[in-house]
Amino acid sequence: MGAIVRRRASVPETLTKLAYQTMQQGKSLMGQAHKEASSRLMGLLAPDGKPKTEPLPAELLARLLKAMDQLTERDWQEAQQGLYPTSLLFDAPWLDWAARYPLLWLDLPLTWRRRQERKVRDLPSDVNHEAYPDYYLQNFHHQTDGYLSDHSAALYDLGVEILFNGTADPMRRRILGPLRRGLEAFAHRPASSLRVLDVATGTGRTLRQLRGALPQAQLVGLDLSSAYLRQANRWLSQLNGELAQLVQGNGEAMPFADGCFQAVSCVFLLHELPAQARQNVIDEAFRLLEPGGVLVLADSVQLQDSPEFKVAMENFRRVFHEPYYRDYLSDSIETRLSQAGFEAITAESHFMTRVWSARKPA
Ligand SMILES: C[S@@+](CC[C@H](N)C(=O)[O-])C[C@H]1O[C@@H](n2cnc3c(N)ncnc32)[C@H](O)[C@@H]1O
Repeated sequence: MGAIVRRRASVPETLTKLAYQTMQQGKSLMGQAHKEASSRLMGLLAPDGKPKTEPLPAELLARLLKAMDQLTERDWQEAQQGLYPTSLLFDAPWLDWAARYPLLWLDLPLTWRRRQERKVRDLPSDVNHEAYPDYYLQNFHHQTDGYLSDHSAALYDLGVEILFNGTADPMRRRILGPLRRGLEAFAHRPASSLRVLDVATGTGRTLRQLRGALPQAQLVGLDLSSAYLRQANRWLSQLNGELAQLVQGNGEAMPFADGCFQAVSCVFLLHELPAQARQNVIDEAFRLLEPGGVLVLADSVQLQDSPEFKVAMENFRRVFHEPYYRDYLSDSIETRLSQAGFEAITAESHFMTRVWSARKPA
C-alpha cells in the first residue's frame, strides 16, 4: 500500500495562500464595518424602519467564523488541485467597487424608506408588467428598482459582496467541483463542444467562475433582467477567450431545445421563487440536459441541514425583502430533483450555501 505523500508547499505557494487569506479577512472586516455603520445610521435617521433582528449568540458567531474559514481553505485547496486557476481567487473589480461604493450609501435612505413603508412593488414606471411573472415584480432585498434597472445592476455585486462578508464568489465556486465531475461523462468529446448553461446568471459572476474552470466550453447565461445581462456583458467581455452567450428569458420556460446542454448551473435563484416556479426551473433544467448531463444548484443552507444557523437565516428574512425565503427554508430540493427525474443526487454545505448535484439518467 502506498503511503499518502504530502507535498511541502513552496514559498510562493505559502505567500499566495497568506495573501488570499488576508484578502478574505479584509473583505470580511469591511463587510462587517459597513453593516455596523449603516445599521447605526439607520437607528439615528430612520429608527422606525429598523428591522427587529435577534442578536447572534457568541457560540453561533464562532460557528459562522469557523465555517467561513473552512470555506476559504476549501477554496484554496480546490484551486491547488487544478479545478480552477489560483488567479480566480483574487478576481475582484476593486477600482470599480470603490467607485460605486458611495452610490451604495446614497441609495440606503431609499431602501430604508421602502422597508419602513412596506413598499415592495416600487418599480420603474416604464416596466412592462406583462413581460415578467408576477412574483418577480418586487423589490427583492428592498433594492431600488428590484432587478429592473441599470442602477440596480450596477450596485448588485458590491451589495452581495458586503452581505456575505466577501464570501460570495468562494460560495459560487463550490459548484465547480461537482460540475466538472459531472462533465467527465463527456470526457471523450472535445472540451470546446461542451455546452454549459447558467440559469439566473444575473451580473455574470458565476459565469466568470465557470470560465475559469472550463476555459474552452461554450457558456450560456440566462436571466429575466436585461439590465443585469447588460452588466454581465460588461464584466464578461473583459475576459480573454471565448465570449459567453447571454439570453434574456424565464428560467421556467427557457428558449432552448431539449437535451442541448451537458451541464446546467443555477446559483442563488431558488430562494427567490415561489414553490411551483422552483419546481418548474428544475424540470426545465432536466429537459435541457442531454442524458448523462449534470445539474448543479447552489442556494442558501436550509433548516434541515444547518439548524444551528437558524437565527442567522431568520435575521436575513427580517432585514431583506425575501418573500419566498421562509417557504424555501423547509423545502426539499432533493424531492424536487427526483420528481423531475434526476438521479445520483448529492448535497453538501459550505458556510451559508448548500450545493446540490444531480444527473439526468443516461
Ligand atoms: C439573487 S440573484 C442571483 C444572480 C446570480 N446567479 C449570482 O450568483 O449572483 C437572482 C437572479 O435571478 C434572476 N431571476 C429571478 N427570477 C428569474 C426567473 N424566473 N428566470 C430567470 N431569472 C430569474 C434575477 O433577475 C436575478 O438576476
